[in-house]
Amino acid sequence: MKILFLNGPNLNLLGTREPEVYGRLTLADIEAMVRARAAELKVEVEFRQSNLEGELVGWIQEAKGKFQVVVINAAAYTHTSVALRDAISAVGIPTIEIHLSNVHAREEFRHKSLIAPVCRGQICGFGSKSYIFGLEAAVDVNESKK
Ligand code: DQA
Repeated sequence: MKILFLNGPNLNLLGTREPEVYGRLTLADIEAMVRARAAELKVEVEFRQSNLEGELVGWIQEAKGKFQVVVINAAAYTHTSVALRDAISAVGIPTIEIHLSNVHAREEFRHKSLIAPVCRGQICGFGSKSYIFGLEAAVDVNESKK
């Protein structure tokens, strides 16, 4: 089983970006944590980040037939991108939305996720552990398909 982790804009700055909100781990640190857990679960993961909406859309489209589940931290595009929502819906791969912070406890504009209605579920507020829970949810979603 292969799981695609997608990361949206500014997540390349993790480690130094508002550490009181997002923690002190870099995206590479988080990727290493995810890879360690994925090895225990015996699943393959691919990890990508882009600051460009169109690149994320392209990766979702190309995931068809290659990945069983997508785990996405769409970052700010969560709240703005009809294009990402449409890509997730069009491709039909089970997708799990994750966030480091609890978006519902923050500014009102973060309460609305345009992608949530086309995702299997949302995990937010657990810091870097949101990625681990996202991985575990992805494995579970794939198992329950069988
Ligand atoms: C985020 C939350 C978003 O609102 C924000 O724009 C981000 C990060 C998170 O992981 O907590 O860039 O997705």
